[in-house]
Amino acid sequence: MTRGRIVGTGSYLPEKILTNADLVQMVDTDEEWILTRTGIRERRIASKEQATSDLALNAAKKALEAASIGAEEIDLIIVATTTPDLPFPSTAALLQHKIGAKKAAAFDLQAVCTGFIYALSTADQYIRSGMYKKILIVGAEVLSRLVDWKDRGTCIIFGDGAGAVVMVASKGHNGVLSSHLHADGSQSELLYVPGGGSRLPINQELVDSRQHYIKMKGNEVFKVAVTALGDSVTEALDANNLKSEDIDLLIPHQANIRIINATAKRLGLPLDKVVITVDKHGNTSAASIPLALDTAVREGRVNEGDIILLDAFGGGFTWGSVLIKW
Ligand code: UT7
Repeated sequence: MTRGRIVGTGSYLPEKILTNADLVQMVDTDEEWILTRTGIRERRIASKEQATSDLALNAAKKALEAASIGAEEIDLIIVATTTPDLPFPSTAALLQHKIGAKKAAAFDLQAVCTGFIYALSTADQYIRSGMYKKILIVGAEVLSRLVDWKDRGTCIIFGDGAGAVVMVASKGHNGVLSSHLHADGSQSELLYVPGGGSRLPINQELVDSRQHYIKMKGNEVFKVAVTALGDSVTEALDANNLKSEDIDLLIPHQANIRIINATAKRLGLPLDKVVITVDKHGNTSAASIPLALDTAVREGRVNEGDIILLDAFGGGFTWGSVLIKW
């Protein structure tokens, strides 16, 4: 059968590093609290001139280079992002022009931190249906523009970055084995941006009351995330008649080291089979999984035939997994 197979990865991080020590100068927090409660040591912050499509472009170029595929061969570009350059047109359309993917269709996909999982699954379905053969999938965020730098409950977590993969049609057993996607909008206000959309359009009052920034009830989100991610990895294994010992590498969304540890524990997976980048990247939402995947590939931790489980949880709520035979 034909399935989607990843043949190249790339990533990009802005130069500016924001450390926990830097944050102590900005809000009422301390380095030890941030490290023990989140596992984060530092995160990257985009320069004033950089928007999401700029980060996406750098990551996408590297993924195409790794795949030895030219931009003009790409059929479709999907950009998973919560921080598009503009309300419209899509960041994917801007990227399509910047990278010179002249024949590619392009759209953005919004599932917050689960965006890259939704995008991989979507791309795989296009390939399985026969509609497209070569797809560029990017997760890119400039979350620093959505963060309230006066809110210590959120500003310590998030970072900027981008990751990309090239997926091609492949016959045989290597590629996406399964994907499972979920959503539950009933608790959307535990993690959301209240203002700036059609519900509460931008005006001075909204800006003065900081409604255009991320609001999160972190502890409540944490509990739902741990349960949903645990269930999600079990669902992926059951659907493929696999056991946790069959997993060669777990690449989870990098939100909090304690959530990652809880998922690994539920699977009984040793931490050397888990990719952890949250210490260096923070939570980069839709960019976190492709950034972690590219890090693992470039460190030589990903080998042909490996069984790799990707999972994510985010605003919406949304959550899900993609299981890959590399
Ligand atoms: O990306 C996908 C979705 N997002 C997530 O998965 C994020 C999930 N949530 C989390 O990662 C964690 O909930 C946080 C890291 C955001 C917060 O950690 P927590 O252990 O859940 O802390 P908490 O919100 O329960 O707060 C515990 C205490 C509170 O003080 P009191 O009331 O016990 O005196 C907070 O005020 O820690 C305090 N606190 C802080 N202290 C120092 C909250 N933020 C900070 C801070 N520095 N930055």
